[in-house]
Amino acid sequence: MSGIPRGTGTEVENLSVQADDIRSQSVVVARYIRDARRLVEAARAAGATVGLVPTMGFFHEGHLSLMRAARDECGYSVVSIFVNPTQFGDGEDLGSYPRDMEHDLELAAAEGMDLVFAPSAAEMYGGGQGTMVEPGRVAAGLCGRSRPGHFRGVATVVAKLFNIIGPDAAYFGQKDAQQAAVVRAMADDLDFHTRIRVMPTVREPDGLAMSSRNSYLSTDERRQAAVLYQALTRVRQAALAGECSASALVQSLEREIGEQPAVELEYAQVVDPDTMQPVAQLGKRALAVVAARVGPARLIDNILIKRRD
Ligand code: PAJ
Repeated sequence: MSGIPRGTGTEVENLSVQADDIRSQSVVVARYIRDARRLVEAARAAGATVGLVPTMGFFHEGHLSLMRAARDECGYSVVSIFVNPTQFGDGEDLGSYPRDMEHDLELAAAEGMDLVFAPSAAEMYGGGQGTMVEPGRVAAGLCGRSRPGHFRGVATVVAKLFNIIGPDAAYFGQKDAQQAAVVRAMADDLDFHTRIRVMPTVREPDGLAMSSRNSYLSTDERRQAAVLYQALTRVRQAALAGECSASALVQSLEREIGEQPAVELEYAQVVDPDTMQPVAQLGKRALAVVAARVGPARLIDNILIKRRD
């Protein structure tokens, strides 16, 4: 947004940001909370609304679609890049999670982001006393069951990011439907003033939902992983054709996904999209959700299904 400091010129001298990053990528990078706050406050004082896209980096089109939405809807857009340790369980892929900060900064610049907030773990959690945000029932099932503590880590870091940036709107992907529901519930329950925007899942040409973790797949695993979306599409068609029984839809998911030997289904369910609780019969709207291990990757996907009226 014009008229808002972008960190070039003299302001940069006062910030603990990396000048090389700024000049070569033409996007401002704040590594410290106080710098991010100062820049966002200046933008707000100049009259801009503030958008935030929380991410763990290693950008793909899904992330870029959220940045575009923020840029279209807000005067000052911030993308955060932080591989959040508190949302990874023991034995999960925190250490090997893919990272490419240099490329991410180029992409954020190309999408017209005004600020990249990329703190270290010490900056986010160092010196803290371990206060966490405990999500409610919406986090109990599905991924909450297979990844205990995961959504508590997500809710905590998102609450911290909301308090640091103070966004008017924050952008999340429908791909992580339970995460979006957890964040919505947290924002409602804790009275954050941030509007939660959930944007459609961006997919590869064969339908596989884009994910940083797709990079873990071998060629054969990558081919078989497409079954997740194919099976979800089929149950959406079955629902539109009149199938109302959630268990019949779940069986169809299990059967089709079970045909791919490299895809080990963790769960398949039909749930209420707001509460994430299982439904027995299709209401007006429901969400078919799946999680599966494919080789070293744990993949999730979902599709909104509607009953034939
Ligand atoms: P990350 O996996 O990097 O995802 C950042 C955002 O991009 C999330 O809102 C996610 O739902 C969205 N996203 C991922 N793949 C997408 C796709 N194919 N289409 C559309 N959106 C997609 O999710 C996280 O990071 C973290 O849990 C975070 C919210 C940043 C908290 O640490």
